[in-house]
Amino acid sequence: MPTPLFEVKDLHVTAEGQSIVKGLSLTINKGEVHAIMGPNGSGKSTLANTLLGNPDYKIKSGQIIFHGEDISGWSTDARAKAGMFLAFQYPQEIAGVSVIQFLRQAVSARKATDISALEIRFEMMEWMDKLGMDPSFSQRYLNEGFSGGEKKRNEILQMALLEPEIAILDETDSGLDIDALRVVARGVNEVRKKNPDLGVALITHYQRILDELSPDFVHIMIDGNIVASGGMELSERLESEGYEGWRK
Ligand SMILES: Nc1ncnc2c1ncn2[C@@H]1O[C@H](COP(=O)(O)OP(=O)(O)OP(=O)(O)O)[C@@H](O)[C@H]1O
Ligand SMILES: [Mg+2]
Repeated sequence: MPTPLFEVKDLHVTAEGQSIVKGLSLTINKGEVHAIMGPNGSGKSTLANTLLGNPDYKIKSGQIIFHGEDISGWSTDARAKAGMFLAFQYPQEIAGVSVIQFLRQAVSARKATDISALEIRFEMMEWMDKLGMDPSFSQRYLNEGFSGGEKKRNEILQMALLEPEIAILDETDSGLDIDALRVVARGVNEVRKKNPDLGVALITHYQRILDELSPDFVHIMIDGNIVASGGMELSERLESEGYEGWRK
């Protein structure tokens, strides 16, 4: 058995002293897409935040393993450089920094080399075209006045250029329209085309994204743990039955 790309082992997480993730385990191999679904408050975003190294969330026990190495003590930056895509690493507006400036800096850090503005522009244009984004977008200031859909597009653009090995996407924004949801699905599919080894953990409430992404695994998370894992039939069952059948 080769070493899995990414593993979570018996993870227990607290926030503000309250236990939220309770002994969760998950293995993501190269090229696999995992969808994580679950009712509001079940701990999905807490899990994502913990995987990304948000210091507000304390790991009480368990491990987060990337390429066989326990990274639970690593900073968010170190995780990003190593190839984890952190969708909400920079959710705030950064005054006076344009989308393209930000990407140049982030991609240079990830690739440990100085990428020229020209190179970034070229790559950006290519991806913006693939993702159906307006070229004027690159000149805008990061997240300043971005709509929910524009934030999402920006996030997916970052993912495309950063060439991660694993992407953890928390689709929390319930205000996204169908087009924005499609951008996410299309973005993941395009990035996978370029890198079939990309591992994805997608947290979502939307069956629609799953229809376009066809995840290899669907997990149901309830009260801080994964209570069922399977294929698309699980999310279809959810559509008709809701979460009731899985609650204790
Ligand atoms: N920083 C925090 N401090 C205190 N409690 C928190 C913190 N973050 C999350 N929680 C609590 O942990 C529980 C799980 O929240 P979380 O955001 O992880 O749920 P979720 O599954 O992502 O829900 P949703 O589907 O609504 O996005 C909630 O009861 C929430 O109030
Ligand atoms: Mg959430």
